[in-house]
This record gives sequence, structure tokens and C-alpha cells, in this order.
Amino acid sequence: MVVRTRVNGEWQEAEVWPGTSLLIFLREQLGLYGTKNACEQGECGSCSVWLDGALVCSCLVLAAQAYDREVRTIEGLSNPGRLHPIQEAFVEAGAVQCGFCTPGFVVAVADLLEKDQNPSPATVREALSGNICRCTGYAKILDAVNLAATRLREGT
Ligand code: FES
Ligand code: FES
Repeated sequence: MVVRTRVNGEWQEAEVWPGTSLLIFLREQLGLYGTKNACEQGECGSCSVWLDGALVCSCLVLAAQAYDREVRTIEGLSNPGRLHPIQEAFVEAGAVQCGFCTPGFVVAVADLLEKDQNPSPATVREALSGNICRCTGYAKILDAVNLAATRLREGT
């Protein structure tokens, strides 16, 4: 079947097997490798993207379900040649170890901070509860969220 969807502002079209997930479509058909494939069971958040503005695990969504809809991935977050402030905060806070979970965390943090510029610690933990870091660097990740939230509030 043919899937036609708008990804990071550009229409894309590809022939896929009907059971293809949005995650595999993004990675293998479109070469968008920032969206990571870790558990493929909706457990880890590494594959997080936006579908029509809603945060989803792309491993749990069929590519066909994205037909004629809007997908935004980690690649659509930053401008070419410049990291997004959340990505900069992750680097500066030392929140990136192997980095495998990082795109999913950054997408989840962006989703949170687009809705709530000054989230409480409990709100941050709840918002990130679907993301797993196998390197277990959670304290630094929470530091990065605080740093990013402060910078985005102050517009720096
Ligand atoms: S790869 Fe989708 S939630 Fe883990
Ligand atoms: S930095 Fe390695 S899984 Fe999170």
C-alpha cells in the first residue's frame, strides 16, 4: 500500500507493507534515524514523535494511520546547523550518556514545555514517565529539563 504523510513540513510518499509501523516507515523509508527503535512495545519512549500534534510511540502506530496526517520528529525540532535549546541543555547538563534514549526524551520534554513553561518537579516526572534511560542518568536528565525550561522562559 502507499502511505502519504507530511513529515517535518514536507509531504512524503512510499510503498509499504500494510503492517509497517510508523517507526519503521520513518527510519527505513525516509531515513530519519533520530527516532530510535528500542523496545518496539510502547515501553521505552525512544520512538516518540508527534502525530497531528499529539505525542505518540511511533512503534505502536501503523504507518497507514499517518496517512494524510502531520508527523513531526526530532529532526523537525531544531534548525539546520543549530541544536534546539533543549538539546543544548541535555549536552550542557551531562544528560547524554550512550544517547540512545535522548531523542525520545528531547521530544517528550519539548512536548511538555510547549504546554507548560514552568512545570513542577512532579509534572516533569509524570511527563517523562514513559521514557526509559537504560544508562539510568535520570538526575542529569531532570537537571537538563530545568535548564531548558529556564532558558526557554527567559528566551536565551
Ligand atoms: S521503541 Fe517504541 S516505545 Fe520503545
Ligand atoms: S543515555 Fe543511554 S539509554 Fe539513556
